[in-house]
Amino acid sequence: MVDLRDTWFVRDVEIPTRLVLAPMAGVSVQAFRRQGRRFGAGLVCSEMVSCAGIEHRNERTLGYLRIASDEHPLAIQLFGSEAQTMAEAARMVEAAGADIVDLNFGCPVKKVTKTGAGATLLDDPDRAARIVSAIAEAVDLPVTVKLRRGLRDGSRDCLVVGPRLVDAGAACLTLHPRSAQQMYTGTADHALTAELVSLVDVPVIASGDVTSRARAQAVLATTGASAVMVGRGAQGNPWVLREIVDGDGAEPTREEVVAELVLFVRETVRELGERRAAGFLKKFYGWYLGRGRFPRPFKQELVQLATLAEVEERLLAAAPGAADVLARLREETPAADHTTLDLPVSIYAGG
Ligand SMILES: Cc1cc2nc3c(=O)[nH]c(=O)nc-3n(C[C@H](O)[C@H](O)[C@H](O)COP(=O)(O)O)c2cc1C
Repeated sequence: MVDLRDTWFVRDVEIPTRLVLAPMAGVSVQAFRRQGRRFGAGLVCSEMVSCAGIEHRNERTLGYLRIASDEHPLAIQLFGSEAQTMAEAARMVEAAGADIVDLNFGCPVKKVTKTGAGATLLDDPDRAARIVSAIAEAVDLPVTVKLRRGLRDGSRDCLVVGPRLVDAGAACLTLHPRSAQQMYTGTADHALTAELVSLVDVPVIASGDVTSRARAQAVLATTGASAVMVGRGAQGNPWVLREIVDGDGAEPTREEVVAELVLFVRETVRELGERRAAGFLKKFYGWYLGRGRFPRPFKQELVQLATLAEVEERLLAAAPGAADVLARLREETPAADHTTLDLPVSIYAGG
C-alpha cells in the first residue's frame, strides 16, 4: 500500500506528501492554498491565470495572483493559446517565485476553448507540444501539464497527447479522465490514468472523484500514479485532506469549523479586498457549514448580511468557544507576506 506521507519529486522539486490540492478557478485563493498545505497537501496550485493579460490587459479579472512564502511548493497554472506569450508569462511566474509552472490543457469552458486555450489543445498535439517546448526552454522551473481525457466522450486522446508533451519537456502530467464534453458529469475513468502511467516516464497525478483515504489508496494502487489530486472534496472541507493523508477521520467540532471559516474570511478579505471578497465568499458558507450541525436557515442568514464583520460576529456567536481556537490558529498561521504576480486571475472557471 502506498504511504500518502511519502515524498516524491517533480524533477528536482520535492513534494512532501502524495496529496495535491487541485487548481479551481473561483476557489483556489491564497487562503485555500495555505489552508491546504496546513492540512496535509504536499503541493498546491493556483487557479488558472490568463496569459492574454500580457497583451491585452482587458481580461475580465478577479484580481492579480498573490503568493505567500509559506505556500511552497506551489505550482502556478497558466492558460493561453500562443507559445511565445505563454513563455513570457512563464518567465513572470518564475520571477514571482513559484516552484512549478503548470499549463491548463483541460478547461472545458467555452469562453476559454474558443480562444484556442484549455481543452482544445488536446485536439492539436503539435501546437500543444510546441507550447510545452517553448515554455520549457524559457524557464528553469519544471513545466507540468494538466489535461482531460480528450474533447469528446470516450476520447482516448490524452494517451497520444500526453507522451508527446513529455517528449516536449513536461516534467509531470495531471490527468482528469473526463472528457471536456462531460464537464463534471459521469465519473473519472482512472483506467485511463493507469494507461497513461504506463506510457510515460514522468510522474502522473490522478485527478477526479478522490474524496476519501480509501479512494485515494485505491486510485494510487490501481493506477501507479505518483499522487492524487483533490478538488471539490476539499471545498469548505480541509479536514478531508487530513483524513486522506493521515487517516484521521475525526469530524471537526462546531468551534473548529467556525474558526477555520473566520480565518478564511479574514485572509480572503486581505487578498481580494472587502467588496470582492463578500461576493466570492458566499458559496463557502454553505460548504463549511455542512459540518458542525448548523441549522439550515443560519447559512441563508449569513449570505444576506451586509458586511463581513457581521458575518464574523454571527459565526462567533454561534460557537462561542471558536474564539480560542481562532486565537491559536492565528498564532500558528501568521499573516502571510506576499509577492504579486502581474497576471490576471481569470473569472472563467474550469478544468
Ligand atoms: C469550480 C472549479 C474550478 C476549476 N478550475 C480549474 C482550473 O482553474 N484549472 C484546472 O486545471 N482545473 C480546474 N478545475 C478542475 C479540478 O482541478 C479537478 O481536475 C476536477 O474538479 C476533478 O477533481 P475533483 O473530482 O476532485 O473535483 C476546476 C474544477 C472546479 C469544480
